[in-house]
Amino acid sequence: MEKNATAEKLKKAISKHLLETEDHVKRLEQCFDILELKPKAERCAAMAGLIEEGEHIIEETEEGTVRDAGIIAAAQKIEHYEIATYGTLAAFAKVLKYNEAIQLLRETLSEEKKCDSDLTALADTNLNTKAK
Ligand SMILES: [Fe+2]
Ligand SMILES: [Fe+2]
Repeated sequence: MEKNATAEKLKKAISKHLLETEDHVKRLEQCFDILELKPKAERCAAMAGLIEEGEHIIEETEEGTVRDAGIIAAAQKIEHYEIATYGTLAAFAKVLKYNEAIQLLRETLSEEKKCDSDLTALADTNLNTKAK
């Protein structure tokens, strides 16, 4: 998405969130440690579908503002899926009294929410109007 985006601010927002995502992985590994479980990678069909949708939008648009608006739409769907997932995991951790895990999951949840609101702000400031 980053290399297909045109607006500098959008490229920056995507690369910043990619760095944050590396921390998200570390936090998940910490959660597994806390629970004394071994993490195992598994393909997420829903996320694969959302990524595919993003790729499709990129293929169907020309480089520029319209594609940027489409990238934001696709990226926000991904963020919303992550927000739902981390929100649920944090709620489960609370019920199960996994206090250290709650903190870690909430930190990630707030970064996912921040990314989503940054993307909304980017779209609202001028990108969608230009794309129109
Ligand atoms: Fe994420
Ligand atoms: Fe995210």
